Amino acid sequence: MEHPPETQRDEGYKYEWIKQSIGDAIDSGALSAGDRVPSLRVMSRKSQLSITTVMRAYLDLEQEGRIESRPQSGFYVRRKQRELAAPRTSNPDLKPTRLDSLDFHFEIMNAMVDTAIVPLGAATPAAELLPLAELTKRLRQVGALHKDAYGYEELVGNRKLRAQIAYHMLETGMNVHMDDIIITNGASEALYLALAVLAGPGSTVAVESPCYFGYLHILETLGIATLEIPTDPETGVDIDALEQAFDLYDVKACILQPNYNNPFGSLTPDAKKQRLADLFAARGVTLIEDDIVGDLPFAGPRPRTIASFKPELEAIYISSFSKTLSPGLRIGWIYSKALHSDLHRRKMAISMNTNRPAQLALADYLAGGRYAKHLKNYRAHCRRQVNQIAAAVEKFFPEKTRLSDPKGGFLLWTVLPERIDSDRLYRAALAEGIGIAPGSIFTSQNRYRNCIRLSCGHPYSASIEAALKRLGELATASVGD
Ligand SMILES: Cc1ncc(COP(=O)(O)O)c(C=O)c1O
Repeated sequence: MEHPPETQRDEGYKYEWIKQSIGDAIDSGALSAGDRVPSLRVMSRKSQLSITTVMRAYLDLEQEGRIESRPQSGFYVRRKQRELAAPRTSNPDLKPTRLDSLDFHFEIMNAMVDTAIVPLGAATPAAELLPLAELTKRLRQVGALHKDAYGYEELVGNRKLRAQIAYHMLETGMNVHMDDIIITNGASEALYLALAVLAGPGSTVAVESPCYFGYLHILETLGIATLEIPTDPETGVDIDALEQAFDLYDVKACILQPNYNNPFGSLTPDAKKQRLADLFAARGVTLIEDDIVGDLPFAGPRPRTIASFKPELEAIYISSFSKTLSPGLRIGWIYSKALHSDLHRRKMAISMNTNRPAQLALADYLAGGRYAKHLKNYRAHCRRQVNQIAAAVEKFFPEKTRLSDPKGGFLLWTVLPERIDSDRLYRAALAEGIGIAPGSIFTSQNRYRNCIRLSCGHPYSASIEAALKRLGELATASVGD
């Protein structure tokens, strides 16, 4: 193990460095389940850091569910209490489908914003994990700092904000011009614009299966049929099936979320991203790449986009700050070089432009350079919360439950035994004040009825643990129904 670099030997770094080193050793397989991690004394000597600092880092790793202490013996890489198998690759019918009704979706979405329920349903971050004091300070200042702060904004969006976003996007591997970016009302409006421009009523758009239910709302609203493609819970969309879909149907566009997709949390490896980029280029199908949680890896560098593997690919990129800074600011963006003008016209027709004070405040915040620091802490929280909820699922849920193993974001996909109907489980849980997202809303086909998505956006607490225990009981009881 290397020493922390001299420049990083101040208190905050020391502690983070130990966590990172042990975490990396586990992620890379250098340390596996059951292995002893270096003792406090050995680690302290090797790293030249105090035993207290090492202890603090170890306790944190223990809280995250990565290591465990054994009395009189030391710290060990945690063995899972029960090895839960991963969900299987999905196998939807490869044919375009339309939803019969959005009624259940609307009911669930309305329930999701109810802050009184235990928040395992909505994919939203807890307020206490967000830099709200910083954002509020800047929101308060916009009137004084910016001329005409409450007037209309430049139609494509605030210049300073677009420049910040173009700079930030370098991390995705994409070198984009700020003038090709349009600021939108969240990623939702960006998706709506992309689909409205690319695909009219009666046309077909391909998505991963299961997929984020918002895609289904928009597709349905625009009269577009959904073509669901088999998807691997670890590595994302099945390329052979996608090719087959392109052979069989006139697919106008394909929405993919290669970085920690919703709901699987899958991360498409770089080699597969390259193949996908080649496929989209060869087939002339437009890729709409949703990168909304790409900033949230648990370890290692921020993943690249598919589009970054082929700069000449005319893909559309969408994202927002809803999962990393504030869902309520409603600031998202869409990038496309080729379709910029069409997207802009649509945007003017739908909402003219996006909330100017929010854009100004966000541009000021991003310019302060604090986003990277916030992400660093926030990612650690997401990872810890995902591990803690996964451990509770292992402990409380029925035999034969399967569980995804995301490498970023804050969602877990849980496959319950076949006999469980998660629509019913959803209702039973809600009646007891517990929110979950039932699997049926992640498809336009009659599927995933025994699955639920659990959101891990909130710090683990006694009430979350009690809710998971109760969910396990309700699920176990319904196995026998
Ligand atoms: C994958 C994905 N895309 C887009 C959105 C919509 O994001 P926004 O709140 O920015 O409109 C969400 C929100 O949950 C999402 O999970």
